[in-house]
Amino acid sequence: MKVAVLGAAGGIGQALALLLKTQLPAGSKLSLYDIAPVTPGVAVDLSHIPTAVEVQGFAGKDPSAALDGADVVLISAGVARKPGMDRSDLFNINAGIVKNLVEQCAATCPKALIGIITNPVNTTVAIAAEVLKKAGVYDKNRLFGVTTLDVIRSETFVAEAKGLNVADVKVNVIGGHSGVTILPLLSQVEGVNFTDEEVAALTTRIQNAGTEVVEAKAGGGSATLSMGQAACRFGLSLVRGLQGDANVVECAYVDGGSEHAEFFAQPILLGKNGVEEVLAYGDVSAFEANARDEMLATLKADIELGINFVK
Ligand code: NAD
Ligand code: LMR
Repeated sequence: MKVAVLGAAGGIGQALALLLKTQLPAGSKLSLYDIAPVTPGVAVDLSHIPTAVEVQGFAGKDPSAALDGADVVLISAGVARKPGMDRSDLFNINAGIVKNLVEQCAATCPKALIGIITNPVNTTVAIAAEVLKKAGVYDKNRLFGVTTLDVIRSETFVAEAKGLNVADVKVNVIGGHSGVTILPLLSQVEGVNFTDEEVAALTTRIQNAGTEVVEAKAGGGSATLSMGQAACRFGLSLVRGLQGDANVVECAYVDGGSEHAEFFAQPILLGKNGVEEVLAYGDVSAFEANARDEMLATLKADIELGINFVK
Protein backbone atom coordinates (compact mmCIF):
# COMPACT_ATOMS: atom_id res chain seq x y z
CA MET A 1 0.00 0.00 0.00
CA LYS A 2 1.18 3.48 -0.79
CA VAL A 3 -0.41 6.36 1.10
CA ALA A 4 0.27 9.93 -0.03
CA VAL A 5 -0.29 12.96 2.19
CA LEU A 6 -0.61 16.30 0.36
CA GLY A 7 -0.03 19.25 2.68
CA ALA A 8 2.35 17.05 4.64
CA ALA A 9 4.46 19.85 6.13
CA GLY A 10 1.44 21.49 7.79
CA GLY A 11 -0.03 21.08 11.24
CA ILE A 12 -2.31 18.23 10.25
CA GLY A 13 0.08 16.80 7.69
CA GLN A 14 2.97 16.32 10.10
CA ALA A 15 0.79 14.83 12.86
CA LEU A 16 -0.88 12.54 10.34
CA ALA A 17 2.43 11.50 8.81
CA LEU A 18 3.82 10.62 12.24
CA LEU A 19 0.80 8.49 13.09
CA LEU A 20 0.84 6.76 9.70
CA LYS A 21 4.57 6.04 10.00
CA THR A 22 3.90 4.23 13.25
CA GLN A 23 0.59 2.57 12.35
CA LEU A 24 0.51 1.65 8.65
CA PRO A 25 0.94 -2.07 7.97
CA ALA A 26 4.53 -3.27 7.57
CA GLY A 27 5.71 -2.94 4.00
CA SER A 28 3.62 0.17 3.28
CA LYS A 29 5.00 3.28 1.62
CA LEU A 30 4.28 6.75 2.95
CA SER A 31 4.72 9.58 0.49
CA LEU A 32 4.75 13.19 1.69
CA TYR A 33 4.20 16.24 -0.49
CA ASP A 34 3.92 19.94 0.28
CA ILE A 35 4.94 23.15 -1.45
CA ALA A 36 7.03 23.89 1.67
CA PRO A 37 10.75 23.17 1.12
CA VAL A 38 11.02 21.44 4.51
CA THR A 39 9.00 18.43 3.31
CA PRO A 40 11.88 16.13 2.33
CA GLY A 41 13.35 16.93 5.75
CA VAL A 42 10.10 15.91 7.46
CA ALA A 43 10.42 12.59 5.62
CA VAL A 44 14.05 12.15 6.73
CA ASP A 45 13.02 12.92 10.32
CA LEU A 46 10.23 10.31 10.21
CA SER A 47 12.48 7.77 8.51
CA HIS A 48 14.49 7.42 11.73
CA ILE A 49 11.48 5.88 13.49
CA PRO A 50 11.97 2.12 13.49
CA THR A 51 8.92 0.81 11.63
CA ALA A 52 8.72 -1.09 8.35
CA VAL A 53 7.11 1.85 6.56
CA GLU A 54 9.22 3.55 3.89
CA VAL A 55 8.90 7.35 3.85
CA GLN A 56 9.67 9.70 0.98
CA GLY A 57 9.25 13.48 0.90
CA PHE A 58 8.74 15.81 -2.06
CA ALA A 59 8.53 19.60 -2.23
CA GLY A 60 7.95 22.09 -5.00
CA LYS A 61 5.20 22.65 -7.52
CA ASP A 62 4.84 19.14 -8.91
CA PRO A 63 3.24 16.43 -6.73
CA SER A 64 3.38 13.71 -9.39
CA ALA A 65 6.34 11.82 -7.93
CA ALA A 66 4.52 11.68 -4.58
CA LEU A 67 1.32 10.51 -6.24
CA ASP A 68 2.87 7.91 -8.53
CA GLY A 69 1.37 4.53 -7.62
CA ALA A 70 -0.60 5.87 -4.65
CA ASP A 71 -3.47 3.71 -3.41
CA VAL A 72 -4.71 6.33 -0.93
CA VAL A 73 -4.29 10.11 -1.10
CA LEU A 74 -5.14 12.27 1.91
CA ILE A 75 -5.30 16.01 1.15
CA SER A 76 -4.83 18.56 3.94
CA ALA A 77 -3.13 21.22 1.79
CA GLY A 78 -4.50 24.72 2.21
CA VAL A 79 -5.09 27.46 4.73
CA ALA A 80 -6.75 27.08 8.13
CA ARG A 81 -9.16 29.35 10.03
CA LYS A 82 -8.32 32.16 12.40
CA PRO A 83 -10.70 33.50 15.06
CA GLY A 84 -13.72 35.27 13.56
CA MET A 85 -13.59 33.24 10.35
CA ASP A 86 -16.08 30.69 9.15
CA ARG A 87 -14.93 27.60 7.21
CA SER A 88 -16.52 29.10 4.08
CA ASP A 89 -14.07 32.03 4.36
CA LEU A 90 -11.35 29.56 3.32
CA PHE A 91 -13.04 28.87 -0.02
CA ASN A 92 -11.26 31.57 -2.02
CA ILE A 93 -7.81 30.09 -1.39
CA ASN A 94 -8.52 26.42 -0.79
CA ALA A 95 -10.86 25.82 -3.74
CA GLY A 96 -8.03 26.42 -6.22
CA ILE A 97 -5.55 24.36 -4.20
CA VAL A 98 -7.88 21.34 -4.06
CA LYS A 99 -8.80 21.70 -7.74
CA ASN A 100 -5.15 21.70 -8.76
CA LEU A 101 -4.14 18.78 -6.54
CA VAL A 102 -7.08 16.62 -7.60
CA GLU A 103 -6.26 17.35 -11.26
CA GLN A 104 -2.82 15.92 -10.50
CA CYS A 105 -4.40 12.87 -8.84
CA ALA A 106 -6.60 12.35 -11.90
CA ALA A 107 -3.52 12.42 -14.13
CA THR A 108 -1.17 10.33 -11.98
CA CYS A 109 -3.20 7.98 -9.74
CA PRO A 110 -6.77 7.98 -11.11
CA LYS A 111 -7.72 4.82 -9.19
CA ALA A 112 -6.55 6.07 -5.79
CA LEU A 113 -8.97 6.55 -2.92
CA ILE A 114 -8.95 10.30 -2.21
CA GLY A 115 -9.79 11.68 1.25
CA ILE A 116 -10.34 15.44 1.36
CA ILE A 117 -9.54 17.13 4.67
CA THR A 118 -9.10 20.70 3.35
CA ASN A 119 -11.96 23.03 4.30
CA PRO A 120 -14.63 23.90 3.50
CA VAL A 121 -15.13 20.12 3.11
CA ASN A 122 -18.80 20.47 2.10
CA THR A 123 -17.56 22.36 -0.96
CA THR A 124 -14.05 21.02 -1.64
CA VAL A 125 -15.39 17.47 -2.08
CA ALA A 126 -17.83 18.74 -4.72
CA ILE A 127 -14.90 20.50 -6.42
CA ALA A 128 -12.89 17.27 -6.39
CA ALA A 129 -15.79 15.31 -7.90
CA GLU A 130 -16.22 17.83 -10.73
CA VAL A 131 -12.49 17.78 -11.48
CA LEU A 132 -12.48 13.97 -11.64
CA LYS A 133 -15.59 14.00 -13.85
CA LYS A 134 -13.94 16.45 -16.24
CA ALA A 135 -10.90 14.19 -16.41
CA GLY A 136 -13.17 11.22 -17.14
CA VAL A 137 -11.99 9.22 -14.12
CA TYR A 138 -14.70 9.89 -11.53
CA ASP A 139 -15.69 6.93 -9.38
CA LYS A 140 -17.98 8.06 -6.57
CA ASN A 141 -16.84 5.13 -4.46
CA ARG A 142 -13.28 6.48 -4.35
CA LEU A 143 -13.85 10.03 -3.11
CA PHE A 144 -14.42 10.93 0.56
CA GLY A 145 -14.80 14.04 2.65
CA VAL A 146 -13.06 13.25 5.93
CA THR A 147 -15.55 13.91 8.74
CA THR A 148 -13.97 11.55 11.28
CA LEU A 149 -13.06 14.47 13.56
CA ASP A 150 -16.77 15.05 14.20
CA VAL A 151 -17.11 11.39 15.15
CA ILE A 152 -14.17 11.30 17.57
CA ARG A 153 -15.26 14.58 19.16
CA SER A 154 -18.79 13.25 19.62
CA GLU A 155 -17.49 10.06 21.21
CA THR A 156 -15.15 12.00 23.50
CA PHE A 157 -17.77 14.53 24.63
CA VAL A 158 -20.48 11.88 25.21
CA ALA A 159 -18.08 9.74 27.27
CA GLU A 160 -17.05 12.79 29.33
CA ALA A 161 -20.64 13.90 29.90
CA LYS A 162 -21.84 10.47 30.98
CA GLY A 163 -18.72 9.13 32.74
CA LEU A 164 -18.30 6.29 30.21
CA ASN A 165 -15.25 4.50 28.86
CA VAL A 166 -14.80 6.28 25.54
CA ALA A 167 -13.71 3.02 23.91
CA ASP A 168 -17.29 1.77 24.37
CA VAL A 169 -18.99 4.85 22.89
CA LYS A 170 -19.92 4.87 19.20
CA VAL A 171 -21.61 7.88 17.58
CA ASN A 172 -22.63 8.28 13.95
CA VAL A 173 -22.41 11.83 12.64
CA ILE A 174 -24.33 12.64 9.48
CA GLY A 175 -24.73 15.61 7.12
CA GLY A 176 -21.61 17.62 6.36
CA HIS A 177 -18.65 19.25 8.08
CA SER A 178 -19.53 22.77 9.18
CA GLY A 179 -21.86 24.35 11.71
CA VAL A 180 -25.44 23.12 11.51
CA THR A 181 -24.57 20.56 8.83
CA ILE A 182 -22.75 18.50 11.49
CA LEU A 183 -25.41 16.28 13.07
CA PRO A 184 -24.42 13.72 15.73
CA LEU A 185 -27.08 11.04 16.18
CA LEU A 186 -27.06 11.06 19.96
CA SER A 187 -30.41 9.27 20.17
CA GLN A 188 -28.68 6.14 18.86
CA VAL A 189 -25.93 5.97 21.48
CA GLU A 190 -26.41 2.63 23.20
CA GLY A 191 -27.16 2.49 26.90
CA VAL A 192 -27.29 6.27 27.35
CA ASN A 193 -30.22 8.54 28.05
CA PHE A 194 -30.00 12.27 27.47
CA THR A 195 -32.45 14.96 28.49
CA ASP A 196 -33.62 17.28 25.70
CA GLU A 197 -31.41 19.99 27.20
CA GLU A 198 -28.38 17.68 27.17
CA VAL A 199 -28.99 16.76 23.52
CA ALA A 200 -29.29 20.40 22.51
CA ALA A 201 -26.17 21.42 24.44
CA LEU A 202 -24.02 18.49 23.25
CA THR A 203 -25.12 18.92 19.64
CA THR A 204 -24.20 22.60 19.73
CA ARG A 205 -20.84 21.83 21.33
CA ILE A 206 -20.00 19.23 18.66
CA GLN A 207 -21.06 21.62 15.89
CA ASN A 208 -18.87 24.38 17.36
CA ALA A 209 -15.94 22.21 18.40
CA GLY A 210 -13.77 23.41 15.51
CA THR A 211 -14.38 27.00 16.58
CA GLU A 212 -13.59 26.03 20.18
CA VAL A 213 -10.10 24.99 19.03
CA VAL A 214 -9.65 27.98 16.70
CA GLU A 215 -10.45 30.37 19.57
CA ALA A 216 -8.26 28.49 22.06
CA LYS A 217 -5.32 28.64 19.62
CA ALA A 218 -5.98 32.40 19.33
CA GLY A 219 -4.73 32.94 15.79
CA GLY A 220 -2.35 29.96 15.76
CA GLY A 221 -4.56 27.84 13.51
CA SER A 222 -7.26 25.21 13.91
CA ALA A 223 -7.37 21.58 15.03
CA THR A 224 -4.23 19.74 13.91
CA LEU A 225 -3.44 17.01 16.45
CA SER A 226 -6.99 15.70 16.91
CA MET A 227 -7.42 15.98 13.13
CA GLY A 228 -4.17 14.09 12.59
CA GLN A 229 -5.59 11.31 14.76
CA ALA A 230 -8.96 11.43 12.97
CA ALA A 231 -7.35 11.36 9.51
CA CYS A 232 -5.07 8.51 10.55
CA ARG A 233 -8.05 6.49 11.77
CA PHE A 234 -9.87 7.15 8.49
CA GLY A 235 -6.80 6.52 6.32
CA LEU A 236 -6.07 3.23 8.08
CA SER A 237 -9.70 2.21 7.56
CA LEU A 238 -9.35 2.92 3.83
CA VAL A 239 -6.22 0.74 3.79
CA ARG A 240 -7.92 -2.04 5.74
CA GLY A 241 -10.82 -1.98 3.28
CA LEU A 242 -8.44 -2.13 0.31
CA GLN A 243 -6.69 -5.09 1.91
CA GLY A 244 -9.98 -6.97 2.16
CA ASP A 245 -10.64 -6.71 5.90
CA ALA A 246 -14.30 -7.30 6.77
CA ASN A 247 -16.70 -4.92 8.53
CA VAL A 248 -14.67 -1.73 8.11
CA VAL A 249 -17.26 0.99 8.75
CA GLU A 250 -16.68 4.74 9.04
CA CYS A 251 -18.83 7.82 8.62
CA ALA A 252 -17.70 9.96 5.68
CA TYR A 253 -19.06 12.62 3.36
CA VAL A 254 -19.71 10.81 0.08
CA ASP A 255 -21.64 10.87 -3.17
CA GLY A 256 -23.70 7.95 -1.97
CA GLY A 257 -27.08 8.43 -3.58
CA SER A 258 -28.51 10.06 -0.47
CA GLU A 259 -32.09 11.22 -0.70
CA HIS A 260 -31.01 14.39 1.13
CA ALA A 261 -28.19 15.89 -0.96
CA GLU A 262 -25.68 15.00 -3.66
CA PHE A 263 -23.03 14.59 -0.97
CA PHE A 264 -23.98 13.51 2.54
CA ALA A 265 -22.01 12.14 5.48
CA GLN A 266 -23.26 8.82 6.81
CA PRO A 267 -21.88 5.38 7.70
CA ILE A 268 -20.22 3.52 4.84
CA LEU A 269 -18.81 0.02 4.54
CA LEU A 270 -15.30 0.14 3.08
CA GLY A 271 -13.82 -2.50 0.81
CA LYS A 272 -11.41 -3.23 -2.02
CA ASN A 273 -12.94 -0.56 -4.23
CA GLY A 274 -13.53 2.12 -1.62
CA VAL A 275 -17.19 2.45 -0.69
CA GLU A 276 -18.58 -1.08 -0.72
CA GLU A 277 -21.98 -0.04 0.55
CA VAL A 278 -23.60 3.13 1.83
CA LEU A 279 -25.30 2.07 5.04
CA ALA A 280 -28.60 3.37 6.34
CA TYR A 281 -28.02 5.69 9.27
CA GLY A 282 -31.01 4.25 11.11
CA ASP A 283 -33.84 5.76 13.12
CA VAL A 284 -33.48 9.34 14.30
CA SER A 285 -35.29 11.34 16.96
CA ALA A 286 -37.71 14.16 16.14
CA PHE A 287 -34.98 16.65 17.16
CA GLU A 288 -32.50 15.02 14.76
CA ALA A 289 -35.00 14.74 11.90
CA ASN A 290 -35.75 18.45 12.25
CA ALA A 291 -32.05 19.37 12.43
CA ARG A 292 -31.35 17.21 9.37
CA ASP A 293 -34.12 18.81 7.33
CA GLU A 294 -33.13 22.31 8.40
CA MET A 295 -29.47 21.86 7.40
CA LEU A 296 -30.19 20.79 3.84
CA ALA A 297 -30.48 24.25 2.27
CA THR A 298 -27.06 25.18 3.68
CA LEU A 299 -25.49 21.90 2.61
CA LYS A 300 -26.90 22.08 -0.91
CA ALA A 301 -25.69 25.67 -1.33
CA ASP A 302 -22.20 24.61 -0.20
CA ILE A 303 -22.21 21.78 -2.77
CA GLU A 304 -23.51 24.06 -5.54
CA LEU A 305 -20.68 26.50 -4.87
CA GLY A 306 -18.13 23.75 -5.50
CA ILE A 307 -19.81 22.47 -8.66
CA ASN A 308 -20.04 25.99 -10.12
CA PHE A 309 -16.41 26.72 -9.22
CA VAL A 310 -15.20 23.99 -11.58
CA LYS A 311 -17.83 24.55 -14.26
P1 NAD B 1 -1.42 24.37 7.92
O1 NAD B 1 -1.37 25.77 7.44
O2 NAD B 1 -0.72 24.01 9.17
O3 NAD B 1 -0.88 23.39 6.77
C1 NAD B 1 -1.30 23.48 5.46
C2 NAD B 1 -0.18 23.02 4.58
O4 NAD B 1 -0.64 23.04 3.22
C3 NAD B 1 1.08 23.92 4.63
O5 NAD B 1 2.21 23.14 4.96
C4 NAD B 1 1.19 24.49 3.24
O6 NAD B 1 2.51 24.68 2.79
C5 NAD B 1 0.47 23.41 2.45
N1 NAD B 1 0.02 23.85 1.12
C6 NAD B 1 -0.58 25.01 0.77
N2 NAD B 1 -0.84 25.00 -0.54
C7 NAD B 1 -0.40 23.82 -1.03
C8 NAD B 1 -0.39 23.21 -2.31
N3 NAD B 1 -0.89 23.84 -3.38
N4 NAD B 1 0.14 21.98 -2.44
C9 NAD B 1 0.65 21.34 -1.36
N5 NAD B 1 0.67 21.85 -0.12
C10 NAD B 1 0.15 23.07 0.03
O7 NAD B 1 -2.97 24.00 8.02
P2 NAD B 1 -3.62 22.73 8.77
O8 NAD B 1 -3.92 23.11 10.18
O9 NAD B 1 -2.80 21.53 8.50
O10 NAD B 1 -5.04 22.65 8.02
C11 NAD B 1 -5.10 22.28 6.68
C12 NAD B 1 -6.54 22.29 6.19
O11 NAD B 1 -7.31 21.29 6.87
C13 NAD B 1 -7.30 23.60 6.43
O12 NAD B 1 -8.07 23.90 5.29
C14 NAD B 1 -8.21 23.29 7.59
O13 NAD B 1 -9.35 24.10 7.65
C15 NAD B 1 -8.55 21.85 7.31
N6 NAD B 1 -9.05 21.08 8.45
C16 NAD B 1 -10.03 20.17 8.18
C17 NAD B 1 -10.53 19.38 9.20
C18 NAD B 1 -11.60 18.36 8.91
O14 NAD B 1 -12.23 17.87 9.85
N7 NAD B 1 -11.84 17.96 7.68
C19 NAD B 1 -10.04 19.52 10.49
C20 NAD B 1 -9.06 20.46 10.73
C21 NAD B 1 -8.56 21.24 9.69
C1 LMR C 1 -12.44 21.46 12.64
O1 LMR C 1 -13.57 21.00 12.70
O2 LMR C 1 -11.70 21.56 13.65
C2 LMR C 1 -11.88 21.87 11.31
O3 LMR C 1 -12.87 21.85 10.33
C3 LMR C 1 -11.12 23.14 11.34
C4 LMR C 1 -11.98 24.35 11.56
O4 LMR C 1 -11.77 25.36 10.88
O5 LMR C 1 -12.85 24.32 12.44
